[in-house]
Amino acid sequence: MLNIVVNPNQILRKKAEKIKDPLSSDVQKLIPEMIETMLVKDGIGLAAPQIGKSIRIVVIHHKDRDLVMINPKIVRKSLIKEWDEEGCLSVPEVFGDVKRCKKITVKYIDESGKEQILSGEGLLARVIQHEVDHLDGVLFIDKAKNLRRIENE
Ligand code: NI
Repeated sequence: MLNIVVNPNQILRKKAEKIKDPLSSDVQKLIPEMIETMLVKDGIGLAAPQIGKSIRIVVIHHKDRDLVMINPKIVRKSLIKEWDEEGCLSVPEVFGDVKRCKKITVKYIDESGKEQILSGEGLLARVIQHEVDHLDGVLFIDKAKNLRRIENE
């Protein structure tokens, strides 16, 4: 399992680099490690800067599937926004309410190097926006209202 970088850390604040070759052995080796780390840590999403790599890869666990998004770009956003609670593996035990677009469309390269386009709403749209923010050095605590600390028992 990979180590999770915890806030504050400069790598979480950098704009991550685009992946030039999604099929390179480094990327192909990293993807299953990121998925494993996300699942072991009980996360629903993980971005590469959170495991110390400033590159544009995110993994998302949605409806029993693991989505891999390389160089994701949100190409459409709904005007309608909604508030909901968020947390983050890099900001342990902290939760807050974040306003996000209700629906989005994202373009990305999948783990086999194919270009994909996906529309999502609700939780999926929220997770994608949260993870893409990580690639731009943005954390949910920058946007959240009513931040609160909830300690694990
Ligand atoms: Ni996060």
